[in-house]
Amino acid sequence: MDGTSIDVRRIRGDDWELLRQVRLDALLDTPIAFITTHAEAEAFGDEVWQERALLGASGGSQATMLAMAGDRAVGMAVGIDRSASRPGLVAIVSVFVAPDARRLGVGRRLIAAVEEWARQIEATATSLWVVEGNDAAAAFYESIGYRSPLDRQRITAPPVRWEMRMTKTLSGG
Ligand SMILES: CC(C)(COP(=O)(O)OP(=O)(O)OC[C@H]1O[C@@H](n2cnc3c(N)ncnc32)[C@H](O)[C@@H]1OP(=O)(O)O)[C@@H](O)C(=O)NCCC(=O)NCCS
Repeated sequence: MDGTSIDVRRIRGDDWELLRQVRLDALLDTPIAFITTHAEAEAFGDEVWQERALLGASGGSQATMLAMAGDRAVGMAVGIDRSASRPGLVAIVSVFVAPDARRLGVGRRLIAAVEEWARQIEATATSLWVVEGNDAAAAFYESIGYRSPLDRQRITAPPVRWEMRMTKTLSGG
């Protein structure tokens, strides 16, 4: 696969089937990285995905970015406005690139798109949690400017894991 043929864009309200496909791919491929399990997500009704697609498509509270290779979604990332409890902060969650689309710069472009949206809603920083042992993800985030202030928390959902917070200060413009 060639990175130049992959389009990174914000989800549209009617893209819920693409969201379902790429999210289920993520949960099957890298279960350790996420709290929701594949079985849980597979059991969601269509209305859950429809609601999430709509939420990620418009408005200022959440933005879902998709990486599209033709009509297949090969990656995603979600930004969530956390400014109500943490002024200026956007949390980044649900980051995934399909194995056959990795190391082509798609992850970098997905995060850049979330950061761009974060700037638009006047956030000053983005932050995310990486499960300890997910060295590829930690290396990825470090390469695009994320740093860990040694903030750790234990995930209580099985299997019990520790995760670390990584953050980035957004420069203006
Ligand atoms: C982490 C992930 C999103 C990276 O996506 P990607 O599209 O492959 O990343 P990019 O191609 O944009 O990589 C950018 C840079 O990050 C670093 N990087 C990415 N993957 C890496 C890896 N496996 N090992 C070491 N460094 C890595 C490199 O510096 C890379 O630049 P280079 O390819 O020029 O060397 C992808 O591996 C993935 O989906 N993993 C499984 C799900 C997951 O762990 N999500 C994160 C949850 S917190």
